[in-house]
Amino acid sequence: MLRRLTLETVVVAGLAASVLLVIVEGSGPHVAPPRPAAPPTPAALAFQQAQAEAAARAEAQRRQAEAAQAVMQPAEEETILPEGHGRAETFGYCVACHNTAIIRRSHFTRAQWDGLMDWMTEKHGMNALDGELRQTIVDYLATHFGPRQAPARGGNPFLN
Ligand code: HEC
Repeated sequence: MLRRLTLETVVVAGLAASVLLVIVEGSGPHVAPPRPAAPPTPAALAFQQAQAEAAARAEAQRRQAEAAQAVMQPAEEETILPEGHGRAETFGYCVACHNTAIIRRSHFTRAQWDGLMDWMTEKHGMNALDGELRQTIVDYLATHFGPRQAPARGGNPFLN
């Protein structure tokens, strides 16, 4: 009786010890397995999409503003032309259709400038330019926008 009891006690104690061991082991510090990333919810996807669209809109606006800035040029003043007799007449008469850049980059002889006045009238509807006003303007143009001088030896041809 005592023997059996002892045997039973040992077995039970052994079992209990094993169970305890398992419990203790199991509750020990352990690292949680990494959770698989949850797929984005429809709301998150919509948010991402909205953000991307907003960024694209902002970029388009920035480009547009840049382009507008490049096109926008400050209005020209008469003083953009070199000082001289006939400047006011030339500026007043010639900037109705285009700015002075087209004039300033030109280098013509007096005869060529004179011919250009007729060309402008015939081809581009400029009011015919006659008499004293024509003289004044053509003289001014020929004086200040005459043919380029040959650059001096060694001179920079781009600076003429
Ligand atoms: C009625 C409108 C008008 C007026 C006013 C006018 N122009 Fe023009 N001009 C034009 C047009 C249009 C062109 C051609 C522009 C082009 O080809 O891009 C032109 C072109 C020119 C050119 C470039 C010619 C070339 O072949 O390189 C010069 C220089 C010029 N104009 C000078 C003048 C001068 C100087 C006056 C004032 C006397 C004047 N323009 C007045 C319409 C005008």
